[in-house]
Parts: sequence; structure tokens; C-alpha cells
Amino acid sequence: MKLYGTQRINKQGHLEVGGYDVVSLAEKFSTPLYVLDEKLIRNNCQTYLKEFQKRVKNFEVVYAGKANLSIAICEIIKEEGLSLDVSSGGEIYTAIKAKFPTDKIFFHGNNKSEEELNLALKYNIGRIVVDNEDELELLQKIAKKSKKKQNILLRLTPGIKPKTHTYIQTGQLDSKFGLGIENKEALRVLSKISNFENINLSGIHCHIGSQIFELKSFEITAKIMINFREEVKKLSGFYLGELNLGGGLGIRYTEDDSSPTISQYVDVTVRSVKESCKELSSPIPKIIVEPGRSIIGEAGITVYTIGSIKEIPKIRKYVSVDGGMADNPRPALYSAKYQAIVANKARYKKEEVVSVSGKCCESGDMLIWDIKLPKLKRGDLLAVFCTGAYNYSMASNYNRLPRPATVLVNNKKARVIVKRETYADLIKNDLKI
Ligand code: LLP
Repeated sequence: MKLYGTQRINKQGHLEVGGYDVVSLAEKFSTPLYVLDEKLIRNNCQTYLKEFQKRVKNFEVVYAGKANLSIAICEIIKEEGLSLDVSSGGEIYTAIKAKFPTDKIFFHGNNKSEEELNLALKYNIGRIVVDNEDELELLQKIAKKSKKKQNILLRLTPGIKPKTHTYIQTGQLDSKFGLGIENKEALRVLSKISNFENINLSGIHCHIGSQIFELKSFEITAKIMINFREEVKKLSGFYLGELNLGGGLGIRYTEDDSSPTISQYVDVTVRSVKESCKELSSPIPKIIVEPGRSIIGEAGITVYTIGSIKEIPKIRKYVSVDGGMADNPRPALYSAKYQAIVANKARYKKEEVVSVSGKCCESGDMLIWDIKLPKLKRGDLLAVFCTGAYNYSMASNYNRLPRPATVLVNNKKARVIVKRETYADLIKNDLKI
């Protein structure tokens, strides 16, 4: 099996990440445990920047915080020179606490509250990505009251339906996000913006979905957006300066996944923008992308301790771990597939097919169906790969399970960047009657 980033199998036959033995990580920090490979996160950030630098002058790479956000992650993203995409007041607050430069923040969401918009204005958030007409009117009112002129991007739906889980398709006309290009809603709303004196339209935005492998979808999207920009020029006499194409590049969760590289993705995106502009003899806009999963997904593993093992003769062997859908809801929600390794038996022969179940009280709490692993016993450590994106950020306290800690590993050092929740944390907001 192909490992990721700095992962390797060490002399003891244990899985190692960032030069740190995963068995020692489990002993020191307990399980379940999220482990992030700092070097891989930083390398992915740099790969995005370098691949753009090679091809175009004016660009911006924005990390999508919804994939995994904490103060330390904000600090890494800041140090690497990326901008940040936030989608709630809570994510804005995290970025502020991490002293993230607010002019490099993009604020998303289909239903931003007045409170959230006020927060964004108070901290001079760089761009608000306005999702619909109602929000535009609300923002104008709020911006006027606070005597500010806010830069915005208008979110559009280009009418693209990439091959991915329907829950994470977002670019089709029938979507809760954005304004349709094909039904002319985008143009209608956009042409009103010049009447809103406290709003400045910097450009347009779209995001067609997530975990996408087909580069063709990105290519077509860029073309549609450039054509739309041309329509706006014809109407207004001005070219919009910024084109934000969202995120969406997929990663390799299993051997069956054939994800394009960051380089291939950037190449297709930039080429499509350039070619479309050339055809129309229009200037190349600033190209903005918002990757989340492809920056942090492969950098994460979750380490679990194996507990009960139950064999139903002639049917199946269930191997239960000390976490599950509370720390990783993706298998239950999207039928997402994961690979895993027994961290303390990484070189052992794979002998039996088992199914890995979580410890939550529902049958849907299965992490992996039918995986071939070495013979297991209670106390063995299972490391599930590719859990860096949309695991911690979507984790819950279902069954009042405390959320795991996150440890950042690099150069043989391990630092806790998110503490494990305690039972006391679980009841801290509970009040007696
Ligand atoms: N920009 C916008 C406006 C987005 O809505 C998203 C993701 C991204 C960027 C980043 O997309 P990425 O590069 O990570 O694919 N919870 C789901 C994924 C939902 C994605 C939501 N939006 C999952 O676990 O697969």
C-alpha cells in the first residue's frame, strides 16, 4: 500500500509519521487520536503556490477552513502565505484569535446572520462572498450603518454537476448556493449592485463540489465563468477583476481512487482561464482557488485502539474501535471508503477480512467494511488514513463521547494543537433545573 507524506514503516515494524512512532503517540496521547503530518500540509500549500507562480502572475490560494480549522492550523496557513476561507462566525473568531490577517479572509455561506455580517465588517474581512439577493440587501443595510464599503464576490452556479456524492455537489442550478447563470438570475442581481453604494463588486465566485477527480469539470467551469464575465463587460463596460473558482480537488482515500495531482489541477484551471480569455480577447482576471481537502486530507490519520472482537460464524468478524462516527461521520453520511493499517503490526501478513465498527449506539456506525488485516487482538492500534479533512471539523459528541485530541507531528516532535475533550467539557454548558 502506498503511504502518504512522511509516513513510513520503521525498524520495529510500526507505522511512523513525522519521524514519530505511532505506537508511542498512542501511549503518550491516548486514543482515539487525530495525527497531522505538518510537513505534508506545508508542502501541499507550497505546491499550490509554486504551480500557480509558474503559470500566472495574479492569483490567490485560499485554504478552505471548513476542512479542518483550529488556531494552529490558521497559524500554519498564515506562515505558508495562503489566504483563508471561513464559513461562519465561529471560523472568523478562530481566525481572529490566531491573528490571521483579516484582509486575506473570504467569508462564505448561504445564510450569513446579521451578527456574522457585523462581525465580518467589524474586523474588515477582505471579501464577503455574497450568496443571494436577500443577503446582498442585508449587507448593504449593515454596511451603510457601519459606514463601510465592503468588497464582495458574487457566488454563481455555473450549471455543472461533477461526478461526486450528491450531498457535495454544489454547482448545479438546483442548489441552495449561489445565483444561476443559465436562468439569468446571476446577471439580474449583478446588474443591481452598482446601486448599492456600500458594496464594491470585486468579482465572481463558484464552487462546483468536492472530492472531484474529473479535471474536465474544472475546465468547463472556468470557461463558463469567463464567458459570464464577458457578458457582464458588455453590459457594464467593465471587466470584473477577480475570478474565484472554489475548491474541490479530490484525494486518494483508497487504491481505487485516481486523484489528479495539484499540478495537473492548477494546469487545467489556469489553461482554461487563459484560453477562454484569449478567445474573447479579454484580460486575464486574478485567479483564486479555495482548496481544503487536497491540502490537509492526506496529512491526517486517526489512531484507534481495538476493543471487542466478535465473530458471527460464516457471516462476518466485527472489530470494534474506541471511536467511530462521532470522530468520523463520513462513512455513515457519504458511504465514504477508508484504508487502514495496524500501526503496531505494520509488516504482519494480512490474514483475515474484518469489518471495523465504531462504538456509537447505532448500526450505521461502521468505519470500514471488509478490510483485509493481520490477525487482531484487543489493544492493537488501528490507523485510518486520510482523515485530515472533514473529520475533526465534522466531529460530534454523539453518545457524549469527548472529541479526540489533535497532534501535529514533524521532525520527531509531536505537539498537541487541539486538546482532548474531558467529561467536564461535556457538561460545561449543562444547567440544573
Ligand atoms: N470553497 C467553498 C465555497 C466550499 O463550499 C468548499 C467545500 C471548498 C471551497 C473546499 O472544497 P474542497 O477543496 O475541500 O473539496 N463534508 C464534505 C465536504 C463538503 C465540502 C463543502 N465545501 C465531505 O466530508 O466530503
